[in-house]
Amino acid sequence: MATKKDLSVEFCGVTFENPFCLSSSPVDDSYEKCSRAFEYGWAGVFYKSFAKFKGIDVSPRFDSIGKESTPWTGFKNLEVQSDKTLEENLDILARLKKHYPEKVLAVSIMGTSDDEWTELAAAVEQAGADIIECNFSCPHMHVKGMGMDVGQDDNMVQEYTKAVRKGTRLPVIAKMTPNIGHMELPALAAMESGATGISCINTIRSMMQLDIDNCTPKPTVNGLGSIGGYSGSAIKPIALRFLTNLRQYPALANIPISGIGGIETWRDAVEFLMCGAETLQVTTAVMQYGSRIVKDLISGLSYFMEEKGYDHVRDFIGLALPHIVTTDKLPRDYEIIPQWNQDKCIGCGRCYVSCRDAAHAAIDWDADQRRPHINEDKCVGCHLCLNVCPSKDCLLPGQIRFKEGAESREIIHQVKYE
Ligand SMILES: Cc1cc2nc3c(=O)[nH]c(=O)nc-3n(C[C@H](O)[C@H](O)[C@H](O)COP(=O)(O)O)c2cc1C
Repeated sequence: MATKKDLSVEFCGVTFENPFCLSSSPVDDSYEKCSRAFEYGWAGVFYKSFAKFKGIDVSPRFDSIGKESTPWTGFKNLEVQSDKTLEENLDILARLKKHYPEKVLAVSIMGTSDDEWTELAAAVEQAGADIIECNFSCPHMHVKGMGMDVGQDDNMVQEYTKAVRKGTRLPVIAKMTPNIGHMELPALAAMESGATGISCINTIRSMMQLDIDNCTPKPTVNGLGSIGGYSGSAIKPIALRFLTNLRQYPALANIPISGIGGIETWRDAVEFLMCGAETLQVTTAVMQYGSRIVKDLISGLSYFMEEKGYDHVRDFIGLALPHIVTTDKLPRDYEIIPQWNQDKCIGCGRCYVSCRDAAHAAIDWDADQRRPHINEDKCVGCHLCLNVCPSKDCLLPGQIRFKEGAESREIIHQVKYE
């Protein structure tokens, strides 16, 4: 067992016992689910978005894709806001706060007018919420002027953030849409209108796959389909990109940001923290594996901190940011030639085929021995071969070759491909 580490974080002036929270979705839309999640160890919930009116969902509303025998790589949903009445949700919140006062109760709301946003904010504060999250980002609402319609329009973000601020003194988080080129501007609009922080990201508008027998997007609803929200591990790269963009924008460098999008493991968690997230939210991994995964997240993060000698989570928040630069700042004066380890080679030939058909044809193939040979004169160090090699430690980064005129020096480089 790892030594018990202090995993607590401060976010928007609120203390979380660890960075792990459920994000707004069906994983935290009832008293039972939230209380079970709290018992397992989640520090908080961003309770399922609700409006003044009940959401009406389609059936079915979910679909998933994997690759070969892997679990879901991507998940698609068409779900809208909570299907409970406002009164039912407020009652659940009051009971949760009463029974779990030490846990963080963040609540996601959605209005359709200034007055609705103000009234919802006041009602949620009255019910015992610690934080209010504004859903400016659902990508498949069937009511105009809600969800992503707000997050894509700086003026609406400003207007509705001000309306929420009018109704509450609690910290207000604006949950942003990734269905936009630059998130910095709506995020700034929210911060300048009274928001305390940002949640990043909601789901990505997508059409994941078709049912080719019925010629309809999945999930198929009576022979029809729609563009919906994409989530899960497939969106992690996009979430990390938006998070980094926000953090590297000078006016947003120090604001509270909650990271969301494809977090499944403690390693994903560390990546979000290193890119500047201060709390983390999860849905799709919980839909697949259950809320008990928080135990693995907590123990994995503790082991990581133990191994690296970190006493507090804040010690490594944002540590990757100085190392993330625009591509014009990357050096281009050397090549790292792969090194082939004969003992580990299984003779599959994938490195040869990929290099021949998609890179620089720098691998020769000995068909009798079923072994590759790297032709160093042709190799440009792209590392496609390392990425397709299924055998661990067979191909590794090897000799560093400086281009003509370049100064020889020590180079920091990726050691392993996982
Ligand atoms: C079925 C489903 C329902 C969701 N409902 C909401 C919602 O009501 N409000 C909201 O802000 N986000 C909602 N989301 C988005 C998630 O909170 C989260 O931002 C997104 O799924 C990315 O995280 P993940 O990859 O961990 O799932 C929903 C996501 C899913 C999959």
